[in-house]
Amino acid sequence: MLNRIKNIVLFASGSGSNAEQIVSYFNQKNSARVVGIFSNSSNAKVLERAKRLNVPTEVFDRIELNEGNVLEKLKLYKPDLIVLAGFLWKFPEHIIKEYPNKIINIHPALLPNYGGKGMYGMHVHQAVLKNKDKETGITIHYVNENYDEGEFIFQKSVNIEGCNTASEIAEKVHVLEHKYFPAVIEQIIKS
Ligand code: GAR
Repeated sequence: MLNRIKNIVLFASGSGSNAEQIVSYFNQKNSARVVGIFSNSSNAKVLERAKRLNVPTEVFDRIELNEGNVLEKLKLYKPDLIVLAGFLWKFPEHIIKEYPNKIINIHPALLPNYGGKGMYGMHVHQAVLKNKDKETGITIHYVNENYDEGEFIFQKSVNIEGCNTASEIAEKVHVLEHKYFPAVIEQIIKS
């Protein structure tokens, strides 16, 4: 029997380079489709990307996220997996409870290092640079009610000894994210 094509919903706050990779990857596959992209910022570049890629979008503010409107909208998309791909706000508990083990996040460092409140995006890379670390990496993990503390699914490291700026580190991390994130999502969705 043919397997049903699964529904992926993405949450993204900014540029959305990961979101674009994920949409494009699954457009070539029969396993899943990105059926919607939710963003907390009406100016986010991810919304331009979504328009170009023909993916429906939903924009919301903090009140709508925390008081149930986002959950109501999310249900309409019937997600099999919710993927935080550069989503920078805390994910609310009532949505986590509604979708146990169905929400994953990517973090741009080797957790448990450089996780927790305030550690997101460029802040992470600046901290890594300041500590003169020789390597950094990515962590893909399940989302629970504490920032960056859910069960790990996948980690990959990269050498950053030649990097002199946080942007150079970010670039190396993005290469890892784009290479591995879609395939890890596919493994989860097929399991
Ligand atoms: C990514 O590097 C992602 O790991 C990070 O935001 C970036 C978004 O890039 N996420 C976090 O820091 C979450 N704590 P993108 O918008 O180009 O995909």
